[in-house]
Amino acid sequence: ENAGTIVFENSTSASKAVAKQIADLIRVKQAQKQPCILGLATGSSPKGLYAELVRLHKEEGLSFKNVIAFNLDEYYPMEPDSINSYVRFMKELLFNHVDILPENYHIPDGTLSKDDIADYCSKYEAKIEALGGIDLQVLGIGGNGHIGFNESGSLQNSKTRLVALDHITRVAASGDFSGLNNTPRTAITLGVKKIMEAKRVILMAWGESKSNIIRASVEGPVTNQVPASFLQEHNNATFVLDKEAASKL
Ligand code: GLP
Repeated sequence: ENAGTIVFENSTSASKAVAKQIADLIRVKQAQKQPCILGLATGSSPKGLYAELVRLHKEEGLSFKNVIAFNLDEYYPMEPDSINSYVRFMKELLFNHVDILPENYHIPDGTLSKDDIADYCSKYEAKIEALGGIDLQVLGIGGNGHIGFNESGSLQNSKTRLVALDHITRVAASGDFSGLNNTPRTAITLGVKKIMEAKRVILMAWGESKSNIIRASVEGPVTNQVPASFLQEHNNATFVLDKEAASKL
Protein backbone atom coordinates (compact mmCIF):
# COMPACT_ATOMS: atom_id res chain seq x y z
CA GLU A 1 0.00 0.00 0.00
CA ASN A 2 3.02 2.22 -0.29
CA ALA A 3 3.20 2.41 -4.05
CA GLY A 4 2.36 5.98 -4.97
CA THR A 5 0.88 7.06 -8.26
CA ILE A 6 1.50 10.24 -10.23
CA VAL A 7 -0.83 10.94 -13.13
CA PHE A 8 0.16 13.16 -16.06
CA GLU A 9 -1.86 14.65 -18.88
CA ASN A 10 0.08 12.57 -21.41
CA SER A 11 3.07 10.27 -21.75
CA THR A 12 5.29 13.03 -23.15
CA SER A 13 5.03 15.21 -20.06
CA ALA A 14 5.33 12.13 -17.84
CA SER A 15 8.47 10.93 -19.63
CA LYS A 16 10.04 14.38 -19.27
CA ALA A 17 9.32 14.39 -15.55
CA VAL A 18 10.92 10.97 -15.11
CA ALA A 19 13.94 12.07 -17.16
CA LYS A 20 14.30 15.09 -14.85
CA GLN A 21 14.30 12.81 -11.79
CA ILE A 22 17.00 10.63 -13.34
CA ALA A 23 19.07 13.63 -14.44
CA ASP A 24 18.87 15.09 -10.93
CA LEU A 25 20.03 11.79 -9.44
CA ILE A 26 22.93 11.49 -11.92
CA ARG A 27 24.03 15.03 -11.01
CA VAL A 28 23.76 14.45 -7.26
CA LYS A 29 25.93 11.35 -7.64
CA GLN A 30 28.39 13.30 -9.82
CA ALA A 31 28.70 15.95 -7.13
CA GLN A 32 29.39 13.18 -4.61
CA LYS A 33 31.90 11.60 -7.00
CA GLN A 34 29.84 8.44 -6.90
CA PRO A 35 28.60 6.19 -9.69
CA CYS A 36 24.89 6.27 -10.40
CA ILE A 37 23.51 2.75 -10.76
CA LEU A 38 20.49 2.69 -13.04
CA GLY A 39 18.24 -0.27 -13.78
CA LEU A 40 16.81 0.16 -17.28
CA ALA A 41 13.87 -1.28 -19.18
CA THR A 42 12.90 -1.84 -22.79
CA GLY A 43 9.50 -1.95 -24.49
CA SER A 44 7.62 1.02 -25.90
CA SER A 45 6.94 2.70 -22.54
CA PRO A 46 10.45 4.07 -21.85
CA LYS A 47 11.08 5.36 -25.39
CA GLY A 48 10.04 8.93 -24.54
CA LEU A 49 12.19 8.84 -21.42
CA TYR A 50 15.28 7.83 -23.40
CA ALA A 51 14.58 10.47 -26.04
CA GLU A 52 14.44 13.11 -23.31
CA LEU A 53 17.65 11.85 -21.67
CA VAL A 54 19.40 12.10 -25.06
CA ARG A 55 18.08 15.65 -25.39
CA LEU A 56 19.32 16.55 -21.91
CA HIS A 57 22.75 15.18 -22.87
CA LYS A 58 22.92 17.05 -26.18
CA GLU A 59 21.30 20.31 -25.18
CA GLU A 60 21.92 20.63 -21.46
CA GLY A 61 25.24 18.91 -21.02
CA LEU A 62 23.99 16.01 -18.89
CA SER A 63 26.89 13.55 -18.71
CA PHE A 64 26.49 9.79 -18.29
CA LYS A 65 30.16 9.18 -17.47
CA ASN A 66 29.31 8.16 -13.92
CA VAL A 67 26.32 6.01 -14.94
CA ILE A 68 26.49 2.25 -14.64
CA ALA A 69 23.43 0.65 -16.20
CA PHE A 70 21.91 -2.80 -15.87
CA ASN A 71 19.10 -3.77 -18.18
CA LEU A 72 16.29 -5.93 -16.90
CA ASP A 73 16.11 -8.56 -19.55
CA GLU A 74 16.88 -10.01 -22.96
CA TYR A 75 15.24 -12.63 -25.10
CA TYR A 76 16.95 -16.02 -25.20
CA PRO A 77 18.33 -16.98 -27.58
CA MET A 78 19.14 -13.60 -29.09
CA GLU A 79 22.08 -12.24 -31.07
CA PRO A 80 23.05 -8.71 -29.96
CA ASP A 81 22.93 -7.29 -33.49
CA SER A 82 19.54 -8.82 -34.27
CA ILE A 83 16.82 -6.29 -35.07
CA ASN A 84 14.81 -7.38 -31.98
CA SER A 85 17.60 -7.57 -29.45
CA TYR A 86 17.41 -5.38 -26.39
CA VAL A 87 21.11 -4.63 -26.88
CA ARG A 88 20.25 -3.03 -30.19
CA PHE A 89 17.22 -1.26 -28.70
CA MET A 90 19.29 0.30 -25.92
CA LYS A 91 22.12 1.34 -28.23
CA GLU A 92 19.81 2.90 -30.79
CA LEU A 93 17.59 4.71 -28.31
CA LEU A 94 20.10 5.72 -25.64
CA PHE A 95 23.63 4.38 -25.32
CA ASN A 96 24.90 5.38 -28.78
CA HIS A 97 23.73 8.95 -28.22
CA VAL A 98 25.17 9.71 -24.77
CA ASP A 99 28.62 9.52 -23.21
CA ILE A 100 28.08 6.37 -21.13
CA LEU A 101 31.24 4.24 -21.23
CA PRO A 102 30.69 0.98 -23.15
CA GLU A 103 32.05 -1.05 -20.24
CA ASN A 104 29.44 0.56 -17.98
CA TYR A 105 26.30 -0.86 -19.49
CA HIS A 106 25.12 -4.39 -18.98
CA ILE A 107 22.39 -6.26 -20.80
CA PRO A 108 21.75 -9.97 -20.21
CA ASP A 109 23.57 -12.04 -22.83
CA GLY A 110 21.23 -13.88 -25.16
CA THR A 111 24.06 -15.83 -26.82
CA LEU A 112 25.15 -18.03 -23.90
CA SER A 113 24.97 -21.76 -24.02
CA LYS A 114 22.21 -23.04 -21.76
CA ASP A 115 24.67 -24.60 -19.34
CA ASP A 116 26.28 -21.24 -18.66
CA ILE A 117 23.14 -19.23 -17.91
CA ALA A 118 22.79 -19.95 -14.19
CA ASP A 119 26.39 -18.96 -13.49
CA TYR A 120 26.07 -15.88 -15.70
CA CYS A 121 22.92 -14.79 -13.85
CA SER A 122 24.50 -15.05 -10.42
CA LYS A 123 27.47 -13.00 -11.67
CA TYR A 124 25.07 -10.38 -13.07
CA GLU A 125 23.53 -10.04 -9.61
CA ALA A 126 26.95 -10.02 -7.94
CA LYS A 127 28.03 -7.06 -10.08
CA ILE A 128 24.96 -5.13 -8.95
CA GLU A 129 25.60 -6.05 -5.31
CA ALA A 130 29.27 -5.05 -5.52
CA LEU A 131 28.13 -1.56 -6.56
CA GLY A 132 25.77 -1.32 -3.59
CA GLY A 133 22.59 -2.13 -5.50
CA ILE A 134 20.47 -0.24 -7.99
CA ASP A 135 19.87 3.42 -7.15
CA LEU A 136 16.89 3.80 -9.47
CA GLN A 137 15.05 1.09 -11.37
CA VAL A 138 12.92 2.01 -14.39
CA LEU A 139 10.11 -0.43 -15.22
CA GLY A 140 7.37 -0.90 -17.77
CA ILE A 141 4.57 -3.36 -17.21
CA GLY A 142 3.31 -6.21 -19.35
CA GLY A 143 -0.39 -6.61 -19.98
CA ASN A 144 -0.33 -9.53 -17.53
CA GLY A 145 1.47 -7.54 -14.82
CA HIS A 146 4.96 -8.77 -15.56
CA ILE A 147 7.96 -6.64 -14.60
CA GLY A 148 11.07 -7.31 -16.64
CA PHE A 149 10.17 -10.78 -17.82
CA ASN A 150 9.00 -11.89 -14.39
CA GLU A 151 5.74 -13.43 -15.53
CA SER A 152 2.71 -14.31 -13.41
CA GLY A 153 3.78 -16.81 -10.78
CA SER A 154 7.21 -15.27 -10.26
CA LEU A 155 8.10 -15.22 -6.59
CA GLN A 156 8.98 -12.07 -4.68
CA ASN A 157 12.41 -13.52 -3.90
CA SER A 158 13.04 -14.81 -7.41
CA LYS A 159 16.56 -14.52 -8.74
CA THR A 160 17.92 -13.53 -12.12
CA ARG A 161 17.20 -16.50 -14.34
CA LEU A 162 16.04 -18.04 -17.58
CA VAL A 163 12.23 -17.94 -17.79
CA ALA A 164 9.56 -19.28 -20.11
CA LEU A 165 7.53 -16.45 -21.63
CA ASP A 166 3.76 -16.48 -21.17
CA HIS A 167 1.68 -17.01 -24.26
CA ILE A 168 0.19 -13.51 -23.88
CA THR A 169 3.69 -11.99 -23.73
CA ARG A 170 4.72 -13.84 -26.87
CA VAL A 171 1.55 -12.72 -28.66
CA ALA A 172 2.32 -9.10 -27.67
CA ALA A 173 5.86 -9.48 -29.05
CA SER A 174 4.90 -11.48 -32.13
CA GLY A 175 4.42 -8.38 -34.29
CA ASP A 176 8.11 -7.56 -33.88
CA PHE A 177 9.11 -11.11 -34.79
CA SER A 178 6.83 -11.52 -37.82
CA GLY A 179 4.64 -14.12 -36.21
CA LEU A 180 4.30 -16.25 -33.12
CA ASN A 181 6.37 -19.08 -34.55
CA ASN A 182 9.44 -16.84 -34.76
CA THR A 183 8.90 -15.30 -31.31
CA PRO A 184 11.31 -16.50 -28.61
CA ARG A 185 9.89 -18.83 -25.98
CA THR A 186 12.36 -17.89 -23.28
CA ALA A 187 14.24 -14.91 -21.88
CA ILE A 188 16.76 -14.00 -19.21
CA THR A 189 15.36 -11.59 -16.64
CA LEU A 190 16.56 -9.83 -13.54
CA GLY A 191 14.65 -11.47 -10.67
CA VAL A 192 11.99 -9.75 -8.60
CA LYS A 193 14.34 -9.72 -5.59
CA LYS A 194 16.90 -7.39 -7.19
CA ILE A 195 14.09 -5.14 -8.47
CA MET A 196 12.66 -4.93 -4.96
CA GLU A 197 16.12 -4.16 -3.54
CA ALA A 198 16.46 -1.09 -5.77
CA LYS A 199 16.48 2.04 -3.64
CA ARG A 200 13.86 3.64 -5.81
CA VAL A 201 11.52 2.23 -8.48
CA ILE A 202 9.61 4.10 -11.19
CA LEU A 203 7.09 2.08 -13.22
CA MET A 204 5.73 3.81 -16.32
CA ALA A 205 2.51 2.87 -18.09
CA TRP A 206 0.59 4.61 -20.83
CA GLY A 207 -2.76 4.14 -22.45
CA GLU A 208 -6.16 2.65 -21.78
CA SER A 209 -4.89 -0.86 -22.59
CA LYS A 210 -2.84 -0.79 -19.36
CA SER A 211 -5.65 0.54 -17.14
CA ASN A 212 -6.91 -2.82 -15.86
CA ILE A 213 -3.49 -4.19 -14.99
CA ILE A 214 -2.54 -0.86 -13.37
CA ARG A 215 -5.61 -1.08 -11.18
CA ALA A 216 -4.77 -4.66 -10.22
CA SER A 217 -1.15 -3.71 -9.50
CA VAL A 218 -1.88 -0.58 -7.46
CA GLU A 219 -5.14 -1.46 -5.70
CA GLY A 220 -5.40 -5.22 -5.91
CA PRO A 221 -3.99 -7.82 -3.53
CA VAL A 222 -0.23 -8.31 -3.46
CA THR A 223 0.05 -11.55 -5.37
CA ASN A 224 2.58 -13.37 -7.49
CA GLN A 225 -0.16 -13.60 -10.12
CA VAL A 226 0.53 -9.88 -10.73
CA PRO A 227 4.26 -9.34 -10.12
CA ALA A 228 3.91 -5.53 -10.36
CA SER A 229 1.71 -5.70 -7.23
CA PHE A 230 4.85 -6.53 -5.22
CA LEU A 231 5.76 -2.86 -5.61
CA GLN A 232 3.05 -2.05 -3.05
CA GLU A 233 5.54 -3.47 -0.53
CA HIS A 234 8.44 -1.33 -1.78
CA ASN A 235 9.10 1.78 0.32
CA ASN A 236 9.97 4.04 -2.62
CA ALA A 237 8.06 2.89 -5.69
CA THR A 238 6.02 5.21 -7.90
CA PHE A 239 3.65 4.38 -10.73
CA VAL A 240 3.97 7.17 -13.30
CA LEU A 241 0.87 7.10 -15.48
CA ASP A 242 -0.92 9.01 -18.17
CA LYS A 243 -4.64 9.78 -17.71
CA GLU A 244 -5.72 6.75 -19.69
CA ALA A 245 -3.60 4.23 -17.80
CA ALA A 246 -4.88 5.74 -14.53
CA SER A 247 -8.51 5.79 -15.65
CA LYS A 248 -9.61 2.78 -13.58
CA LEU A 249 -8.02 3.88 -10.29
C1 GLP B 1 8.48 -6.42 -22.53
C2 GLP B 1 9.62 -6.06 -21.60
C3 GLP B 1 9.08 -5.52 -20.30
C4 GLP B 1 8.13 -4.38 -20.62
C5 GLP B 1 6.97 -4.92 -21.41
C6 GLP B 1 5.91 -3.89 -21.71
O1 GLP B 1 7.83 -7.56 -22.11
N1 GLP B 1 10.50 -7.17 -21.32
O2 GLP B 1 10.16 -5.09 -19.48
O3 GLP B 1 7.70 -3.77 -19.46
O4 GLP B 1 7.51 -5.40 -22.62
O5 GLP B 1 6.12 -3.32 -22.95
P1 GLP B 1 5.50 -1.97 -23.43
O6 GLP B 1 6.20 -0.90 -22.69
O7 GLP B 1 5.83 -1.96 -24.89
O8 GLP B 1 4.05 -2.02 -23.16
